[in-house]
Amino acid sequence: MNDAQARPQAKLRKEINELEESKIVEVWQLGLGRKGVIPLWVGESDVVTPPFIRRAAMEALEAGRTFYSYKRGEPELRETLARYINRLHGTAERPAPVSAERITVTSAGMNALMMIMECVIDQGDELVAVTPVWPNIFATAKIMGGVAKQVPLSLGPQGWTLDLDRLFAACGPRTKAMFINSPGNPTGWMIGPDDQRAILDFCRRRGIWLIGDEVYDRFVYDRPAAPSFLSHAEPEDPLIVVNSFSKAWAMTGWRMGWLVTAPSLGETLAKTVEFNTSGTTPFLQHAGVVAVRDGEPFVKEMVERCRIGRDLVFQALSASPRVQMVRPQASFYAFFKVDGIGDTVQFCKHVLMKANVGLAPGEAFGPGGEGCIRLCYANSAERLSEAMGRLLPLLR
Ligand SMILES: Cc1ncc(COP(=O)(O)O)c(C=O)c1O
Repeated sequence: MNDAQARPQAKLRKEINELEESKIVEVWQLGLGRKGVIPLWVGESDVVTPPFIRRAAMEALEAGRTFYSYKRGEPELRETLARYINRLHGTAERPAPVSAERITVTSAGMNALMMIMECVIDQGDELVAVTPVWPNIFATAKIMGGVAKQVPLSLGPQGWTLDLDRLFAACGPRTKAMFINSPGNPTGWMIGPDDQRAILDFCRRRGIWLIGDEVYDRFVYDRPAAPSFLSHAEPEDPLIVVNSFSKAWAMTGWRMGWLVTAPSLGETLAKTVEFNTSGTTPFLQHAGVVAVRDGEPFVKEMVERCRIGRDLVFQALSASPRVQMVRPQASFYAFFKVDGIGDTVQFCKHVLMKANVGLAPGEAFGPGGEGCIRLCYANSAERLSEAMGRLLPLLR
């Protein structure tokens, strides 16, 4: 035995060793560097962040806003977000459900979710998640040593539906948190206010954290915003709402988001931020203020672009006898079943090779996603028409 073999091995944590590669990434990697691919596999639009937001970041950078800053975010951004949330989600009974002290600015939605898990999930704790859902949430729970329990939505002629009894029955003594993403990635499912109230009430009674992922709340096609848990909650409820600049303002690369929590969680979150990122980049936060304050016309354009994309994709795919699909209510994904495909990863690889279109395999999103494919329609009509022209011959 040589010296190196005799030394004790430096080991990684079991939870990290066991992390699996995302199946979406598996397909995406195969397509990296391929010429002419139409990329509809990941959750972002083909729109560059608009100039007025980019300019605001450049001005703040020029002005020297390059120092460490407030852990929970610049006060101006937290105030601006509180006003925005109250405008969208205030009701006659609760005209201003959210104050700035409840807001924590984060380095995007992903970082917000990871920090929540750091705060609430102990070894062996359960996170109950409604699926099919964006798979990163399972990984965050696993990293903390938790277990993700999955409750699938059902797909019927009217679209995706949630069985509340089934959701509540899945919660046991080790359930620490429930995760609801609405509007949903990948399904486009949107929870209604009655179900929101029932779930919030259940979580209050059982002392379970309710994590509402509302990053697609603006992508709804018949009203200004999807229903939010915030409209029904008292400030000290065990509710944590996650949101992001990524989708509504086309800022995926900026890595900015926010959390709304009980005011009493503020100090805990300040410490959690300190030991993760120590705060979000100040010159980007200035651009965040401008995005939220002046960005409504842009958000409306984005939603309209997605509505056109949704209708185009729905019409094209519905023409294939092998495709089962309901018109998505919200978010910006088509999630459709294709008869006769078993392994959706293989199918997406086949589509990539034959048609040069990038799609995401349904099995990546947990129970309920079997046999399904996800396509992001937050793209130009020209790009989507070209993609449909290439894809449909493979669906005959
Ligand atoms: C449901 C859901 N939540 C959170 C996120 C995180 O977004 P970001 O980290 O870009 O803010 C995404 C990204 O696709 C998502 O689909």
